[in-house]
Amino acid sequence: MVDIKVGIVGLGRLGKTHANNVASNIPGMTLTAACSVVESELDYAREQLGVTETYISYEEMVNSPNLDAVVIVSPSGFHTEQINLAMEKGLHVFCEKPIGLEIKEIKKTVEIIESRPELVFQLGFMRRYDESYQYAKEMVERGDLGELTVIRCYGIDPCSGLESFVKFAGASNSGGLFADMSIHDIDIVRWFSGKEVNRVWALGKNAAYPELDEVGELETGAAMMQLEDKTMALLVAGRNAIHGYHVETELIGTKGMLRIGAQPDKNLVTVFNENGVVRPTSQHFPERFRDAFLNEMKEFASCIREKRQPGVSARDGLEGTRVAYALQQSIDTKELIDVTR
Ligand code: NAI
Repeated sequence: MVDIKVGIVGLGRLGKTHANNVASNIPGMTLTAACSVVESELDYAREQLGVTETYISYEEMVNSPNLDAVVIVSPSGFHTEQINLAMEKGLHVFCEKPIGLEIKEIKKTVEIIESRPELVFQLGFMRRYDESYQYAKEMVERGDLGELTVIRCYGIDPCSGLESFVKFAGASNSGGLFADMSIHDIDIVRWFSGKEVNRVWALGKNAAYPELDEVGELETGAAMMQLEDKTMALLVAGRNAIHGYHVETELIGTKGMLRIGAQPDKNLVTVFNENGVVRPTSQHFPERFRDAFLNEMKEFASCIREKRQPGVSARDGLEGTRVAYALQQSIDTKELIDVTR
């Protein structure tokens, strides 16, 4: 079996995780090339990961004759352009979420992706590859929970990143709290229910850093969404979890309910000390979703080998972004937003 030769763009917070996985943990894949605008990251790729081709220019990387696929982990504003270019060069593409920042651009990219069905395209909605989410999905599919009535999602980042977020909030546009934080929650609401979102209403409050009001950013937001079959979804998005990285999902159905990550456990350890009974919590996404990041890349490799497309499509990326922007529109206008148009 000849290895799939991969080039990665972006070796930052998440890029390093994907690069390490491709280089060392995915059977049948080799990390051949890496692209970053940070020289020390390219040194890291050469010295630590054994990458033979390093580039500052993405365009030059995709022109390499030695690649079968690219993994895109660059800042979100580059995604559509980099996907288009890779597809033009006949490369399979794994791209981190979101698929893009502009709906018009995303639609064009979806068309390009759909015009090349022989090339695998996978979007980084890794929760779909987390074992707990997959277990819950199987229960839903078997009908164990009956008909779903409510889906509740919490996606709250640890407060450790908030001070720096506040510092740079005026200068860099996050796309808004819901596009930044809730895109995975929106995706799993659509995935679990198999339904599209019809109407949304969102609210927000800045309590720890009221100065965020002045730059139009939010530290905590909540939203209610109505799906096409009247299922309700409740989202809480935040940047200020004191205890760690809190991703929790609840499904309520006519025959039962379940919760995933009701406690954001780090491991199986329970500490008994002067604070009482303490469960350590996971502190960031690479820790909580370590296996999901691995599983999704294994799936990408399998899809390329088996000449099939993964369960998560470019259209899922488009729909998730559309809903996230509708939530932001609701914040801005204080109105209930119809997403059906
Ligand atoms: P980062 O800022 O830590 O790293 C960005 C990387 O892109 C750096 O290596 C930088 O050198 C490179 N880069 C920037 N401009 C470039 C250019 N013009 N050409 C080539 N390389 C360039 O970013 P982070 O946090 O790793 O995020 C990257 C992507 O991953 C984003 O789209 C983000 O939304 C997504 N992400 C997804 C997560 C998930 O849960 N699936 C979690 C965190 C990030």
